[in-house]
Amino acid sequence: MSIKRIAILTSGGDAPGMNAAIRAAARSAVSYGWEAFGVRRGFAGLMAGDFMPLRARDVGGILQQGGTFLGSARAPHFKDAEGQLRAVSALNDAGIDAVVVIGGNGSQTGAHALSQHGIAVAGIASTIDNDLAGSDITIGVDTALNIALEAIDRLKVTASSHQRAFLVEVMGRDCGYLALMAGIAGGAECICIPEIPTSPEQVAAELDDSYKRGKTHGLIVVAEGASHDAQALAAYLQEYGKNRPTYEVRSTILGHVQRGGIPTASDRILASRLAAHAVESLYKGDINILAGMVDNHLKATPLAEVAGKHKPFPEDLFQLAKTLVR
Ligand code: F6P
Repeated sequence: MSIKRIAILTSGGDAPGMNAAIRAAARSAVSYGWEAFGVRRGFAGLMAGDFMPLRARDVGGILQQGGTFLGSARAPHFKDAEGQLRAVSALNDAGIDAVVVIGGNGSQTGAHALSQHGIAVAGIASTIDNDLAGSDITIGVDTALNIALEAIDRLKVTASSHQRAFLVEVMGRDCGYLALMAGIAGGAECICIPEIPTSPEQVAAELDDSYKRGKTHGLIVVAEGASHDAQALAAYLQEYGKNRPTYEVRSTILGHVQRGGIPTASDRILASRLAAHAVESLYKGDINILAGMVDNHLKATPLAEVAGKHKPFPEDLFQLAKTLVR
């Protein structure tokens, strides 16, 4: 099949570096003599045929911006065959031969569905959650992690001044990667993640231990999808701490602050490399793949192997975090 026109979309939760990926995908397409089009608002815009030209100049000045200038959306209608067929006819009407999907797990499942309808697709691994199979690291993780870490470092300072424990809730509904990494990099006393349920009693015991060892602060990093979120843990700890010598407890929920940052150098470079690799794969006829980074090398993995799959939890890093609490 000979590709002449491609569409590029960003889907699901935005991730810092998506703009760098759009730019690199559009300019790589131009380098092959193709025409590139942007799709506004992800799969929702694809179903509506909402395309805009992406010439080399149209993607100037976006490399350093967070978010996605094309817009993104969660598009539940795209889960149905009816929505997918609407997208296929919009692509056919616009004479577009291939689609580049920049996004995380749900988005790559959508990309796979589109490929099942005969559209050539290349996915680009992009989500702050880093839960996507087929790429060791995804676009946006580094920026989100650094934002979380900056907050943690600051909270530790005020925590120490007041002998307090801070619960810091980071994103991650189904995946504890961000919490785990932020916990290791921020020196947390306790890390609560969805993969390993932690009871409020266990958290209280960790804090008691810390307090007895003479630490001036207690830091608990909690993923939003942990068995008990920051609010629930704070309620328990406040009750538990009444009339006993331990830390006062405060909590901070970082939420979407983590998603809105200016992409780090690492995210811009990752995005540029993955996007160029995705378009090169299409050029070589290696279609229906996810462009990812595996063992420090660019790799195109069939979408059928990654769609809907989560990468395994890094058990060794959870153990490391525990070892380092002293
Ligand atoms: O998938 C990325 C993510 O930021 C998750 O960590 C979080 O649970 C979710 O998106 C939040 O989604 P929304 O932006 O739709 O509230």
